Amino acid sequence: MSHEEFPTGNPAVVTCGLPYATGDLHVGHLRGYVGADAFNRALGKLGQQSIYACGTDMHGTPVAVQALQRGVDPESLALKRHKQYQETFPRFDVDFDSYGHTHDATNTALTTEIVHTLEDEGYVYEDEVLVAWDPAADQALPDRFVEGTCPYCGARARGDECDEGCGRHLEPGEVKEPHSVITGNPAEYRERAHKFFRVSELQEYLGEFIDRLEGTANARNQPREWIEGELRDWCITRDLDWGIDYPGADDLVLYVWVDAPIEYVAATKQYTERVGSGAYDWETVWKEAGEIVHVIGRDIIQHHTVFWPAMLHAAGYEEPRAVVAHGFMSLDGEAFSTSRDRAVWAREYLDEGFHPDLLRYYLVTVGGLQDDIDFSWERFRERVNGELVGTVGNFLYRSLLFAHRNYGGTPESDLSPAVRERIEESIEAFRAAVNDYSVREAGEAAVRLASFGNEYIQRHEPWKLVDEDPAEAERVIRDCVQLARAVAVLLEPVTPAAAERAWAHLGAAGSVHDAELDTALDAPSSEFGEPEELFATIDEERVAALNEKLAERVAAAEADAEADDGGESEGDDTGKDAGSEGGEDEDAERVEGERPNVELDPLADERVSFERFGEFDLRVGRIERAEPIEGADDLLRLEVDIGIETRQIVAGIRQLHETAELPGTRVVVVANLEPAELFGVESDGMVLAAGAEADLLTTHGDAPPGTTVR
Ligand code: 2FM
Ligand code: ZN
Repeated sequence: MSHEEFPTGNPAVVTCGLPYATGDLHVGHLRGYVGADAFNRALGKLGQQSIYACGTDMHGTPVAVQALQRGVDPESLALKRHKQYQETFPRFDVDFDSYGHTHDATNTALTTEIVHTLEDEGYVYEDEVLVAWDPAADQALPDRFVEGTCPYCGARARGDECDEGCGRHLEPGEVKEPHSVITGNPAEYRERAHKFFRVSELQEYLGEFIDRLEGTANARNQPREWIEGELRDWCITRDLDWGIDYPGADDLVLYVWVDAPIEYVAATKQYTERVGSGAYDWETVWKEAGEIVHVIGRDIIQHHTVFWPAMLHAAGYEEPRAVVAHGFMSLDGEAFSTSRDRAVWAREYLDEGFHPDLLRYYLVTVGGLQDDIDFSWERFRERVNGELVGTVGNFLYRSLLFAHRNYGGTPESDLSPAVRERIEESIEAFRAAVNDYSVREAGEAAVRLASFGNEYIQRHEPWKLVDEDPAEAERVIRDCVQLARAVAVLLEPVTPAAAERAWAHLGAAGSVHDAELDTALDAPSSEFGEPEELFATIDEERVAALNEKLAERVAAAEADAEADDGGESEGDDTGKDAGSEGGEDEDAERVEGERPNVELDPLADERVSFERFGEFDLRVGRIERAEPIEGADDLLRLEVDIGIETRQIVAGIRQLHETAELPGTRVVVVANLEPAELFGVESDGMVLAAGAEADLLTTHGDAPPGTTVR
């Protein structure tokens, strides 16, 4: 990699994947938008000039199919959604400097201009291609208007992507056994003239580009296979009347994936038009020397690491510096489902009265960015109560309250060298995390510093020192106030509103949003008022009520669906397209066949015989009882019914499962394992579980306890 570390002297633009104008946002969708917002804010903390730009993806068949199903025109449908998004994002402090949409005049003009350049440079040619056609409706079936079988992996696929299988982009004519989404009839293929972009000519460039690219490992590694393999030209037009017209060909529009990423540029341009090129020049960023960082979902890596940089390069634009690809999100271990109303909607979250910072914190820190993560109200409660209330809020409140009550603000004393050093270490950790594109680690640097603060105040007991050694008490509290100031600065990208409140409690000048890292060490104000608690605890009853509400809603939606269509279930989604409003035309979001990004153990070299395998007596069990074992934080004592008898089994799953929810769970038990004793409790068997989260192995159907597992 050949890039200078952040901050550089070049202006930066951070973008996130444009949301399709297809419906409401749920908390899973917010992961990328919040992550990119936090990253942009974190760059600002380093002193990097940076803006956050995005827009609504208005075109293409995702919108056209919905509009057709609803009998409305695509433009008004898309504009309605666009307005909705414009209102929702700020409510989560997702602070776009520029948010446009792909159908606006800026994007339309810029797209047309770029396509002209590609033509002038000889990168576009026309060719005959087989296009799926609905004979009954007598119309072409581009992209999501046709479904069939993926020619590469055999999974059910949409016209332009194998969304449930291998995740590949599919060219027109590729999908096998095509059928029309409009009429359900088998589709036929007809020859049509379309425009192609010569991606194949850019193979060498793309190979070099990918070597320079920064970001997450998935985005830097996956594309090698596509770039180094057969790199085919890309069909950039469609037979559709919703989109940006292909210049000079009235009957064709541009493929949505041409004009969508150009919105990154258009939104940047609109920002310059607002603030003036002296303050921020979009042409410097996109045509000379900019730091372009794309935050996207991992399902659209190919578009951002192959087609998009190829287009930029061919049109004489700058290339992205980094592509940061995040994983998806599930809800209580299962996929979000818009049709079954199995989602925590963004609006619903706010209506429940939760502060956006709590969700922001969860989304950014609950797992590595590349990992698929899970949302549950219970885990949300744990993270809020444990880290935000227990660590950050507790430290800031107790130290600032003590300082206010005893000194009316920061006592006069020098900052201890050891505390200065500790703050400097956190600043360095934050800086390194940003250069590593890890907002999670940046947030963790702040929480660890607050945790240090808690230990520090606890260890020095200033409440005793005030009488015993007043000068020492002043020194300790001076240190704590400085630590509080540093925590506010470091946590701002993740929880901006809470950081701003802490800033006000500290009596600090200006806004924490503008405070760069070094200001963490500036002398805190000698006067400030009484602070308030930053975060409120969420109690168990609240979580139970939220879970109940969700379950009731899912049951109602399922009953409705059964009444409507005899119970046919639709696809699930994990946070790709925004969900449909009415729920009747859900998009299948999860790339089921794609492997999650977890470190896998290497496969065992040695094979075992059937006989040896048969020696294991594996049985279906049903957990009857689960209780903690005193003194063992990780262990639970389980009573498991294995049909013939009930076994006592000790399992190391206490931290990973809600004890009260385990009874009733079907598990797989190794019944003939030698008994062992753990923490003085005999364990007679083993419950099987997968991975670091101890995902319990269970049965798909209702096999009764005692059934042999083979
Ligand atoms: O996959 C999607 O949801 C697209 N709307 C993302 C577009 S990102 C970009 F390249 F424009
Ligand atoms: Zn496939």
